[in-house]
Parts: sequence; C-alpha cells; structure tokens
Amino acid sequence: MKKEQFVLTKPLNHLAVIMDGNGRWAKKRLMPRTFGHKEGCKRVEEIFNLCMRYGIKVFTLYAFSTENWNRPEDEIKLLFEYLEEFFNSNIDKFMEKGVKVNHMGDASRLPEKTRRVLNEAINRTFNNDKFVFNICLNYGSRQEILKAVKNIAKDVENKKVDIDNIDDKLFQTYLDSAYLPEVDLMIRTSGENRLSNFLLYQLAYAEFIFTPTYWPDFKEKEFVECLKEYCSRDRRYGAIKE
Ligand code: IPE
Ligand code: IPE
Ligand code: MG
Repeated sequence: MKKEQFVLTKPLNHLAVIMDGNGRWAKKRLMPRTFGHKEGCKRVEEIFNLCMRYGIKVFTLYAFSTENWNRPEDEIKLLFEYLEEFFNSNIDKFMEKGVKVNHMGDASRLPEKTRRVLNEAINRTFNNDKFVFNICLNYGSRQEILKAVKNIAKDVENKKVDIDNIDDKLFQTYLDSAYLPEVDLMIRTSGENRLSNFLLYQLAYAEFIFTPTYWPDFKEKEFVECLKEYCSRDRRYGAIKE
C-alpha cells in the first residue's frame, strides 16, 4: 500500500538550501571529492522534484560561492560540468512542468560553456510560472548587497529614485532575488553551522535547520523530516503568541 504523503501544516513557499558535505561524503568512501559533487547533483534533481511534489514554489540552491574559486582548478572544472549536465538533462522537464530558472550571482566569471547553458535555461524558461529553480552560482551575499546599494545610489543620482522612497520593498527589487517570495526555510547540510555568505538580507525571518547529513545522503526521508521540523516551529515575527 502506498504511504500517505506528509501534508504541510504551514505555508512554505520558498526553500533555500546550502548543499554541503559532498567532498566529505566522497572522502569517507575513499573516492575523489568530485565523486561527491556528481552524486550531489543527483540529489539536487530529487530534492527539486520533491519541492514540486510538496507544493513548495521556489527552490534556491547555493551551488558555488564567490569563495569557492579558492578550490583546486580540477574540482571547479568538474563541478561546473556536472551542473551543465544537470541543466541539459532537465531543461525539457522544466518546460513541461512550468519551471522558471533564475540565477543569483555574477555570471561573468563562470566558464563560458556554463554561462551559455545557464543563459539558455533562463531564456527558454523565462515565461514559466509554476515553480522557480533559483541557482546561486558565483554568488556572495555581501557582493550582492553592495551591487544593490551601488545601483540604487546611481538611480538616486539620476533622479530615478527619491531617497525618501527607499524602503525594504524597493531595496529588495535591487537584489538578485527581486520579486521572489520571502525565504521561509533555510537548510544547510553537513553539520556546518554558518551561512558562508548566503542570503544575508533575505534570511531575516527564515527558519533555519542545520542537519549533520552530508548532501549526497539528503534524500526524501531527511527532506520530510525537515518539513516536519519546520511545521513544528512557531513563527512569531516579533509578535507574541496568544
Ligand atoms: C558542497 O560540498 C558543494 C560546494 C560547495 C560546491 P563541499 O564541496 O563543500 O563538501 P565538503 O564541505 O568539503 O565536504
Ligand atoms: C558554502 O559551502 C558554499 C556552497 C555550498 C556553494 P562551503 O563548503 O564552500 O563553505 P565553508 O567553506 O565550509 O564555509
Ligand atoms: Mg563544504
């Protein structure tokens, strides 16, 4: 008999994930770190499918940080190749299911092929509106905030924006996450309890879950456990509970 699916008891529109632990997962198996990235890409596909199944509308994935350039060239090269494969093998499904691809970060430094594949995915899925797959590649939150500040300052200078009208809502439209809903839940795998330059502005009122599971081991069971944990949280937004 088919097991009944857990039903969310709280709205969860936007899930953000720091996939971490690919390297350690591989090392534990005496395999090269890149083997972990390959396996990790399979989980990305699975977790994204689960997001759609559980009614989550936006899945943000931290896949490569501005600091990750400090890694060995070979590792970076293969990681980007796996990400290209991921887009190539999922693009038709994205079209079929109405998934829109969005990118956060600076695309200009990405390998040419990765940039092409990413742009193609963004352009092809531009008008889709059922789900968003939001990938952070060469992303750093401090850089994103600084870019937004500079752009808003330019608009003030050019008299497109009145300084008195700058509020949170307007500022958010200058971020790479412009027009995406608030992040409800942020999950980081692998037991690290830090943000590593991820969504410093956007996570203001998100719930956080730090799980010791390495990303390649993060499957449906772990995902549903996180959803249950999220549903048990009391989101007060500064108010008090009656
Ligand atoms: C996360 O896994 C993937 C990326 C940062 C690209 P790691 O590669 O950071 O794996 P660990 O943390 O070294 O185990
Ligand atoms: C954060 O993971 C970046 C991504 C998941 C893309 P890292 O593994 O790079 O973070 P640190 O070095 O442990 O902080
Ligand atoms: Mg790591």
